[in-house]
Amino acid sequence: MELIWRDILEKIYRKEETVAQRNAGKIPYSTDGNFFDDRSEDICWWTNGFWAGLLWQLYGVKKNALFRKEAERVERKLDRNFTIARGMDHDSGFKWLLTAGANALLTGSGESKNRLLLAANDLAGRFNPAGNFLRAWNDPGDGTNAGIAIIDCMMNLPLLYRASGMTGDPRFRAIAVRHAETARKYFVREDGSCAHIAQFDPETGEFLGTLGGQGMAVGSSWTRGQSWAIYGFALSYRHTRREQFLATSERVAHNFMECIPKNGYIPVDFCQEQACDAEDDSAAAIASCGLLELFRITGKEEYLQAAERLLGALAEGRCDLTAERDNILTRCSAAYHDEKHNFALIYGDYFFTEAVLKLSDKETFLW
Ligand code: GLY
Repeated sequence: MELIWRDILEKIYRKEETVAQRNAGKIPYSTDGNFFDDRSEDICWWTNGFWAGLLWQLYGVKKNALFRKEAERVERKLDRNFTIARGMDHDSGFKWLLTAGANALLTGSGESKNRLLLAANDLAGRFNPAGNFLRAWNDPGDGTNAGIAIIDCMMNLPLLYRASGMTGDPRFRAIAVRHAETARKYFVREDGSCAHIAQFDPETGEFLGTLGGQGMAVGSSWTRGQSWAIYGFALSYRHTRREQFLATSERVAHNFMECIPKNGYIPVDFCQEQACDAEDDSAAAIASCGLLELFRITGKEEYLQAAERLLGALAEGRCDLTAERDNILTRCSAAYHDEKHNFALIYGDYFFTEAVLKLSDKETFLW
């Protein structure tokens, strides 16, 4: 099997040589027609680290100077985000682990380590000790989002674990652990499915309930949220060795694996009507990374098999590995209630590439 994935990795590498050249200076989110759009003007957008992360992952394989140059350019552009308080939120891990964090790991850059710590300090400052959660979104200054936490944030906790590792200061790790404990309690349901949003009273910390968010409805199963939970709790286990995080990741993984449709393609929400054709390849790719991490930790073959099934389906029917268009995955969706579904999203491409690298034993571990 490893050979097939190495072959796909080689195709991704060749494709991205052309794509990086064609899109020099851009920070892509999706595509206009066959080619990447550019979010450079919307510098605080949560996905702005993924293109650089993909380039750093490929740089880790063959040290291609163009990939490094483009990734470093994104990292420098993101410095403007540090000057915009309302654009700093719970997604700092996505933005800076995959840019500055990757650069620090692969080149030892001191400037990048500095950026990583700035981002970690800001993320730590979002901790609400009354409810033991990291606040998610900002608001216009009226406090409306002060009590909101979201499952996606599990993927940003590694920024805090890394900051403790870099500084020897346990505060960052302590905050991450307390947030993960809260997420375990309030987001993950008995059957292993997950809520997207949990709402707390920001003054008292009282849990007020869950909201549907990017999924279909309150109580439904937004698939990308479940993917964030599988991978995010597995990463919290990797950084802390706390068994309860591993058990939570496995519980969500089992629910996810039971829900995979026969054709192997993941819907936007596991509760959506069968007639609805809205898919999310990004959920499949993120879940695969989480399942491969679970396989690495536990050695249980079921996780490897499920990841290969998901990735095999993507490789067969949802991938463009030619250089004719910029994206790799073709049918991602940002949210169930959006008008548009089944299009390119840069984080889908990042996680697909990361999963292929894991299967080829060539990953740089960035989380
Ligand atoms: N973190 C936002 C999303 O998954 O769409």
